[in-house]
Amino acid sequence: MLRNITLPQDHPWGSRIRYYDTLGSTNTLAKELAAQGAPEGTVVLAGSQTGGRGRMGRSFHSPEAVGLYLSVILRPGCAAARLMHLTCAVGVAVCDGVEAALGLRPRLKWANDLVWGQRKLGGILTELGLHADGRVDYAVVGIGINCCQKEGQFPADIEVLATSLSLAAGQDIDRAKVAAGVITALEKLAGSLFSPDWMERYQADCVTLGQDISLVRGDGIRHGKALCVEADGALTVRFPDGHTEQVASGEVSIRGMYGYI
Ligand code: BTN
Repeated sequence: MLRNITLPQDHPWGSRIRYYDTLGSTNTLAKELAAQGAPEGTVVLAGSQTGGRGRMGRSFHSPEAVGLYLSVILRPGCAAARLMHLTCAVGVAVCDGVEAALGLRPRLKWANDLVWGQRKLGGILTELGLHADGRVDYAVVGIGINCCQKEGQFPADIEVLATSLSLAAGQDIDRAKVAAGVITALEKLAGSLFSPDWMERYQADCVTLGQDISLVRGDGIRHGKALCVEADGALTVRFPDGHTEQVASGEVSIRGMYGYI
């Protein structure tokens, strides 16, 4: 049962887990709780979401009984500019948590998708609350993972793009075990957020590097090769005329993934 997550008895976040059968969005509630003063390590977990949100205004399909939908409040107490790497670092921590729980390691598509093979397993949505002077009041990191879906259980519009941990592992998945692994890994991240290790490890987990990509931004679509990820999470791309740019936002498609040929 997702409502009964077993963390080690002395886990500092163990008493801060709030479970709800259904919510609009765990990120939305976590932001409200953070604004009211909830401490670092407050975890909002939902059995389903009616308004799960993804990046770029997208929705995140969040049906009951098959997914993991959780948000965690962090209070790093630094300037927002020092948190540019946060979503990437969370990605590595989530991979650690899944690996600890299941023995399989997902990979990451820059910047915030969890992937298995050519398909999307889940995603990360980071939202910040700032003080008037620009310092971070709180960061809410929201994680959605498809866990128990079997073939034919995704909606038609994402069927060819999506996969689940169950399909990846070839066996049933205990979502509470995955949640415990992810929460434990996030607590470790919170204690070492500014270690360069996270971004070094991101390079190893990131499937985007070395790939031909399409970069979709307001100013159109451009093609290039993804070279590396910088310490601040920006993607360095080489374009056909040989020049390189560091890309900090936008949507990147990788040839061969998510149906992009
Ligand atoms: C993406 O794929 O763009 C990010 C998806 C993030 C989804 C998670 S589910 C838990 C948390 N609550 C939300 O509303 N969104 C995140």
